[in-house]
Amino acid sequence: MDKTSGFKIRGIYKSLRVRFFVIVFLTGLISCLVMHSVILDSYENRAVNVKSTEAQTQLRILANHLIVSNYLQDTSSEVINAELDMLANLYDGRVIVINDDLKVVKDTYNISQGKTIISEEVVNCLKTGSKGTVSKYDQANGYIEIVTPIIESEDIEEEDVSVSGKVSEVVRGVLLTSVSTETIAVTLKILSRRAQTLEIMIILIILLFAAWVSIMLLRPFDRITTAINDVKAGYTDEPIVGPNYLETEQIINAFNALLRRMKVLDDSRQEFVSNVSHELKTPITSMKVLADSLLAQEDVPNEVYREFMTDIGAEIDREDKIINDLLALVKMDKKASGLTITSVDVVNLTEIVLKRLRPIARKHNIELTLESKRAITAEIDEVKISLVIMNLVENAIKYNKDEGWVKVELDADHQFFYVKVIDSGYGIPEESLDHIYERFYRVDKSRSREIGGTGLGLSIARNAVLMHRGTIDVSSVVDEGTTFTVKIPLTSTLALTK
Ligand SMILES: Nc1ncnc2c1ncn2[C@@H]1O[C@H](COP(=O)(O)OP(=O)(O)O)[C@@H](O)[C@H]1O
Ligand SMILES: [Mg+2]
Repeated sequence: MDKTSGFKIRGIYKSLRVRFFVIVFLTGLISCLVMHSVILDSYENRAVNVKSTEAQTQLRILANHLIVSNYLQDTSSEVINAELDMLANLYDGRVIVINDDLKVVKDTYNISQGKTIISEEVVNCLKTGSKGTVSKYDQANGYIEIVTPIIESEDIEEEDVSVSGKVSEVVRGVLLTSVSTETIAVTLKILSRRAQTLEIMIILIILLFAAWVSIMLLRPFDRITTAINDVKAGYTDEPIVGPNYLETEQIINAFNALLRRMKVLDDSRQEFVSNVSHELKTPITSMKVLADSLLAQEDVPNEVYREFMTDIGAEIDREDKIINDLLALVKMDKKASGLTITSVDVVNLTEIVLKRLRPIARKHNIELTLESKRAITAEIDEVKISLVIMNLVENAIKYNKDEGWVKVELDADHQFFYVKVIDSGYGIPEESLDHIYERFYRVDKSRSREIGGTGLGLSIARNAVLMHRGTIDVSSVVDEGTTFTVKIPLTSTLALTK
């Protein structure tokens, strides 16, 4: 068997539709067959019973006649002989009359006359003197064997008044009769043949029904597959609808939810791409303008040249910064598994970051202080948390008044460590607070650009915090200052890399 046909067979075996079909079909088939055998069996039982009861009654009457005409002693009675033959003919069988010495007195087949019969039933009947008739159905050979006792009744001659009038019964002999059941067998055969034709028809109907049911009932699943394939192929991104079952509705709902999510992701990606293009284009446009205006003039003085080239250099720096931020953001967008977790001294880390930012603070005459309440060691990604602190403190310096201050506070409890960045800057208006983490969002576009912002810093910071399963919060009063609070678990759920 080659591989593909193996898969095909496995596929058929796993198919819900095929299983459904097989179950429905087998249920129908089995009940049909059971019905067949039960009905025929009960017919046979009943027919055999009726026949045997009928024969027993007649045999009992015959046994009486035998006694009355003293047949056991003298078999010459024409009437009785005729009666015996008639009965044998009627039942298409054989009647044997046996006396109490187990001798055959008469056999309608005229074979066993004078022989001794030691059949168990006959012996039993005579020895125990049982008055009941015994019948046995031999299905294989197609006859019923009936043992009928020949009973003589005599009045009890006793003085006792209380028992007088009672009758004593003595078994004088036995009638051993076999009754042919051929007619029953013939009827059974006819019935069975008819039942078979009917069964074949019923089985065909069940087959069609099972096929129809398995196709119809599972059709909604096909519809879902088709709809999902349409979406996958890109023909449509409409939600799937349709009359369905509870079960398929759950699948459809889950799929539609997935579709909505994909749409949101797609929209935000598109927006991101257009924002990126726009942001990258701005410095290039400026450079083009600067370069063009330089070229347009002849005999440009050296100082003007210098000035323009400095501006072009600044635009290049901006472009570089945007690209760097974008790269940082893209790295951040990966899963939490992208973290390189080590055990880090957070106070030390913050000091290093602040040291790098001091020159900018000094330029604006801003006082930058660090206050740490205790030593903090945490399992974090050193580079990413530096980025967080860097961005927050950088913002606090950039969006500050001259002669302002920035305070960084570090603290920890048994579960988390906290970084607070408090500034005396111009604050963030209430309506902007919800948007500051969005990519490329700036409260005041022109001022931010002047200051050299890309609008990506806080998204980078927030992503890094979320990767650590931490939170970032902001509270701000316009013209008074802003406080960012970052809370990060001390231990990572990821294993230490080092
Ligand atoms: N400490 C702060 N004080 C006032 N405004 C702030 C502060 N931090 C961030 N913002 C506002 O949030 C915007 C988004 O910040 P960010 O994502 O870092 O971008 P940017 O590159 O402009 O700094 C900034 O443009 C600024 O308007
Ligand atoms: Mg920033």
